[in-house]
Amino acid sequence: MAAVHAAAMPEGEVWEAAAIAVQLALPGVFGLLDSRGGMVLARVAADEAEILALAVVPAARRQGLGAALLAAAEARAAGRGAAVMYLEVAERNAAARALYAHASYAFAGRRHGYYRDGGDALVLKKRLNPAAAAGG
Ligand SMILES: CC(C)(COP(=O)(O)OP(=O)(O)OC[C@H]1O[C@@H](n2cnc3c(N)ncnc32)[C@H](O)[C@@H]1OP(=O)(O)O)[C@@H](O)C(=O)NCCC(=O)NCCS
Repeated sequence: MAAVHAAAMPEGEVWEAAAIAVQLALPGVFGLLDSRGGMVLARVAADEAEILALAVVPAARRQGLGAALLAAAEARAAGRGAAVMYLEVAERNAAARALYAHASYAFAGRRHGYYRDGGDALVLKKRLNPAAAAGG
C-alpha cells in the first residue's frame, strides 16, 4: 500500500508504511489494495465513513481503477453500517475532483488554507446505499 501511495502522490504528501500501519490499526479503519497499482484507505465510525487516502499509480490511471476502489470502499463501509461517506480533496486537484463528481459526490464544505501551499480543501459527501453493501 505504501509503495502505491509513494508512486502516486506528490512529494511531501507521501505516507510512510509505518504511518499507514498505524492508521490500519485504528478502530474502523480498513484498506483495499489492487495489484494493478491502486489503494484506498477508509474509516468507519458509527454511521459515517471517510476516505483517508485514494491513490492510483500514474501508469494505471484512466482505466477505472480509482473509481472501482472508491466503489469498493463505499460498499465495504456501507456493509459496516455507514450511511454517508465523506472525503477531502484539494480544490486544485482536478483529476480527483473529476473522479468524485463522476462518482456522485456533492459539495459539503470548504476548509480554507487547509494545505501547506495555502490551498483550500473541499469536503465532499455521498449518501451510501445500504442495498449495495458488501460484506465485511
Ligand atoms: C485521482 C486518482 C485516484 C484517479 O484514479 P484513476 O484510476 O485514474 O481514475 P479512474 O480511471 O477510475 O477515473 C474515473 C473517472 O474520473 C474522472 N477522471 C479521473 N482522472 C481524471 C483526469 N486526470 N482528468 C479528468 N477526469 C478524470 C473521469 O471522469 C474518469 O472517467 P473516464 O476515464 O471514463 O473519463 C489518480 O489520478 C491519483 O491517484 N491521483 C493522485 C492521488 C490523488 O490525488 N488522490 C486523491 C486524493 S483526494
